[in-house]
Amino acid sequence: MFNILFRKKYSLADESTGQTTLEKKLGFLDLTALGIAAIVGAGIFSTIGICVSKGGTGVVFLFIFTAISCLFSALCYAQFASHIPTSGSAYTYAYHSFGEIVAWIIGWDLFMEYAVSNIAVAISWSDYLSAFVQQYGILLQKYLVINGQHIRLDWPAFIINIFITTLCYIGIKESKNMNNIWVVMKLLLIGAVIAVSVFYIDTALWLPLFPAGLSGVLFGVSSVFFAYIGFDAITTTAEECINPQKDIPRAIIASLIISTLIYIALTLVVSGMVHYSKLEVGDPLSFIFVSHGMHKFAAFISLISLVTLSGVMLVYQLGQPRIWMAMSRDGLLPSLFSKIHTRFKTPYISTVITGVAVGVPALFANIQDIIDLTSIGTLFSFAIVCAGISYMELTGSVPNSRFKIPYISSAKIAPAIILCIAFTIWQNDYWGIIFTEKIFFLIVILVVFVVAIVKKLSLIPILGLICNLYLMSELSTTSQLRFVIWLIIGLAVYFMYSIRHSKLNARKGASDT
Ligand code: ALA
Repeated sequence: MFNILFRKKYSLADESTGQTTLEKKLGFLDLTALGIAAIVGAGIFSTIGICVSKGGTGVVFLFIFTAISCLFSALCYAQFASHIPTSGSAYTYAYHSFGEIVAWIIGWDLFMEYAVSNIAVAISWSDYLSAFVQQYGILLQKYLVINGQHIRLDWPAFIINIFITTLCYIGIKESKNMNNIWVVMKLLLIGAVIAVSVFYIDTALWLPLFPAGLSGVLFGVSSVFFAYIGFDAITTTAEECINPQKDIPRAIIASLIISTLIYIALTLVVSGMVHYSKLEVGDPLSFIFVSHGMHKFAAFISLISLVTLSGVMLVYQLGQPRIWMAMSRDGLLPSLFSKIHTRFKTPYISTVITGVAVGVPALFANIQDIIDLTSIGTLFSFAIVCAGISYMELTGSVPNSRFKIPYISSAKIAPAIILCIAFTIWQNDYWGIIFTEKIFFLIVILVVFVVAIVKKLSLIPILGLICNLYLMSELSTTSQLRFVIWLIIGLAVYFMYSIRHSKLNARKGASDT
């Protein structure tokens, strides 16, 4: 049984990409644009306001820390992507490094990152639309009244989802062209916000940097991490890239760096224009200009934000069906998930199912719950991808790939890092929390560090793994519990369907221990 659960794909020959008829249309700039489209969205356009209102300008350090943590994971994604240029992303990487059951868990988990995050973005889009039309005296009613009870019914979120699903259905070229236009608009908007804000920023408002201490800053962990989700979505289009091995790693890193610079700048703008305590709003970028009496400019920002958020939705709505397509080609999901439209050359059935899976919950869901769930799901998949690189190193099975993470020995640096972490915890009087709420994570992190030091593993994947585990530990227990329940449902599906239909069943001696 163990052999079956952990059977692996050995090489690219095990990938059933021969069936693919996807069009190869994406180059480096398209991929970078896809990355920026996926990353810069609801996280910065909506939730940054609440983060700064709780943590002050110090949130900028959370953005920097999270960016570094994401960079470790991004490098691991880049190494895998340059070795395995197929659409399955973390799912396929786990299949090659850990084996089938872990791959399934990741494939199941990625639903949180792609479909579920799009629910949040759709809701945020709808909020910006309401704010925009309200400036012209129109009030959008987003609820039904049944027996005197107000029931949430976010129909704009549903309608934008239908539009995006249609775009994904009719073709990658159409999606790419639309996306490139949206990204240019997004960058111009951000440039305009920064340029105009220069005349209004009051640097005195940046102080105190940490008005509510470390805990105030850490309040924003989930939202700040949410803001970075998306660079990995580039890898789901690997089969539609002209030169995936070279372009995907470069595009991942480029889009992450550009987004980080944008986030740092926008955090300084937001907290420099309005006192942090007043920023608990869902549309902070337009709010800061309303506060300075610039109503027309604020309306313009709301309008372009709608475009921007559409771009984010597009990338995730492209990613989810392609992951299902990869899982279906491996036999873990029914074959209809990998059916390609003869005319449009897209995985059309998966695309429609994604549309329904996002659109219907978007009518009723609460955005903060969705953000927390997305963040924990994504952190988990990042952690597995980083662990995958370290595990292959541990078992001596690292493949030759065009892009390799530079080797720095954990044995040399990790002890110093452990001391720094312990010192920070001590300085902030954080031991009580660590030994109670986070004891599970503490044990796992210590074990990882010890193995890494003893086996002299490459430091960057280890740091990626540790950072992701740490960020997971900062999320609420409710989200952690919901996430575990989702994984248990996934395992039930695996044992009832996928294990029996896996294509690896056909491989003689399909074990690999
Ligand atoms: N990073 C994406 C956003 O902020 C999910 O919308």
